[in-house]
Amino acid sequence: MTKINKVAWITGGGTGIGKELAKILSSKNYTVIISGRRLKKLSETSKYNPKKIIPIKLDVSDANNCDNVAKKIYKHFGFIDLIILNAAIYSPGAIEIINSHETKKVVDVNLLGQLNCLSFALEKMKDSCKGHIVFISSPAGYRGLPGAGIYGVTKSAVTFLAETTKIEFSKFNIKVQVVHPGFVKTPMTDKNKFQMPFLMSPKEAANRIYKKLKSNVFDIFFPKRLIYPMKLISMLPDKIYFFLMKKFVKLPK
Ligand SMILES: NC(=O)c1ccc[n+]([C@@H]2O[C@H](COP(=O)([O-])OP(=O)(O)OC[C@H]3O[C@@H](n4cnc5c(N)ncnc54)[C@H](OP(=O)(O)O)[C@@H]3O)[C@@H](O)[C@H]2O)c1
Repeated sequence: MTKINKVAWITGGGTGIGKELAKILSSKNYTVIISGRRLKKLSETSKYNPKKIIPIKLDVSDANNCDNVAKKIYKHFGFIDLIILNAAIYSPGAIEIINSHETKKVVDVNLLGQLNCLSFALEKMKDSCKGHIVFISSPAGYRGLPGAGIYGVTKSAVTFLAETTKIEFSKFNIKVQVVHPGFVKTPMTDKNKFQMPFLMSPKEAANRIYKKLKSNVFDIFFPKRLIYPMKLISMLPDKIYFFLMKKFVKLPK
């Protein structure tokens, strides 16, 4: 008897962490749909395992197209076991340089994009009382952070969204996890001019995420030596937190 594959959908699977996750999942028991705006990048990922990695062009900020893609996947496979909401754009910088155009763009992709890809699948998962949703967030959203700009704001919202989804949908047996990776060397961080502590490869990051997908932990974070101190600092009382930020974090220009 042929073993029926599980089906995963990864948004932003043409590069970075999404690409490495697609490679890992396709080498396990998954058929992986990867989406993104650049078909060329998606096709490069697909070459790794053409029978099991299926590229689909999709801009996550286009809600109608997200619905259409989700419907297409359900029509073809009948189910989606795992959705990894990974697509995002990076727009760090001081709050004073944020303009409404840039803000809209980042919110449209990083926050609304996740909701756009989720809405149809969530209904289906609810109906079938099974499913697994993974939100890729960032420690940049733990607490107000100088220089994190609108990117940090959207990631804070993504973590909130993940928590709310978990609470509201656990009764439907839907598993929800959120990922807070430290610095990972990808096209996203290649534009950073500062030295990134404990920088890791996207392959290493994807492996760490994959290992936790089967577990029951809600918050997947790594590396501990970066994230534990960040979590601790984010729990400090306002006065101490603001003092430390002012004293030790270089303000963006
Ligand atoms: N790298 C890090 O250090 C780090 C740390 C914490 C969190 N993260 C998070 O990890 C996730 C993956 O990032 P990464 O580091 O792997 O960066 P990346 O290589 O730049 O990946 C981002 C992906 O998102 C896709 N994307 C961007 N805008 C899109 C849109 N409008 N519609 C559809 N797809 C879109 C891009 O593909 P197209 O351009 O082809 O659309 C790209 O493949 C992100 O959510 C990021 O915030 C990364």
